Amino acid sequence: MVLSMNRWAGKVAVVTGASSGIGAAIADTLVEHGPILSKKGKLHAVKADITREEDILKAFRWIADNLGPVHVLVNNAGYMKEGLLTEGDTQKWKKEFDVNVLALCIATREAIGVMRTNDIQGHVIHINSTAGHAAPKAPKLNVYSATKYAVTALTETLRQELNTLQSKIKVTVT
Ligand SMILES: NC(=O)c1ccc[n+]([C@@H]2O[C@H](COP(=O)([O-])OP(=O)(O)OC[C@H]3O[C@@H](n4cnc5c(N)ncnc54)[C@H](OP(=O)(O)O)[C@@H]3O)[C@@H](O)[C@H]2O)c1
Repeated sequence: MVLSMNRWAGKVAVVTGASSGIGAAIADTLVEHGPILSKKGKLHAVKADITREEDILKAFRWIADNLGPVHVLVNNAGYMKEGLLTEGDTQKWKKEFDVNVLALCIATREAIGVMRTNDIQGHVIHINSTAGHAAPKAPKLNVYSATKYAVTALTETLRQELNTLQSKIKVTVT
């Protein structure tokens, strides 16, 4: 783990949804072992509501202006609220798609744009779910599972796109 992270020493990693849970653990580990979210041992928190495109664009502008080009993007932020499809709330479904799918697409576009402009062989990592690889035996996860299937599909189509562009940028899905 440490060895594989050495290639990112001194580089900039962006982790979405790093305020808690898995994202916070990823950010801590990255700061400890390799990339900088700031100078060694320090982590920059950038506040953004990633259901708002302008917030994401603003965050990437801030990162470019203050830290430099992005080398690693971890699309971790996620939203899930259980509920039945037959009685569900449309706004909740929209939020699941906005956070889990659209924000991931926007952040990926922005990060890869920076990587290509700066000729960086970067890495984009999507934090998925087992619910994105096989429909879970949990009917109340309906739309969440659909958003995570979208992440699986988006990973494969991005891989093909990067190949077509003859890009060395990597994409990984969990
Ligand atoms: N925990 C699991 O068992 C599990 C299993 C499979 C997959 N996953 C996936 O792993 C990832 C992290 O999950 P977790 O369990 O660590 O979840 P979590 O503790 O609920 O953390 C989710 C993170 O996403 C952020 N987020 C949500 N909506 C946002 C928004 N509109 N704008 C900006 N940030 C937003 C949250 O920030 P705020 O709280 O500030 O909104 C938080 O930092 C997700 O993609 C999830 O689908 C988790």
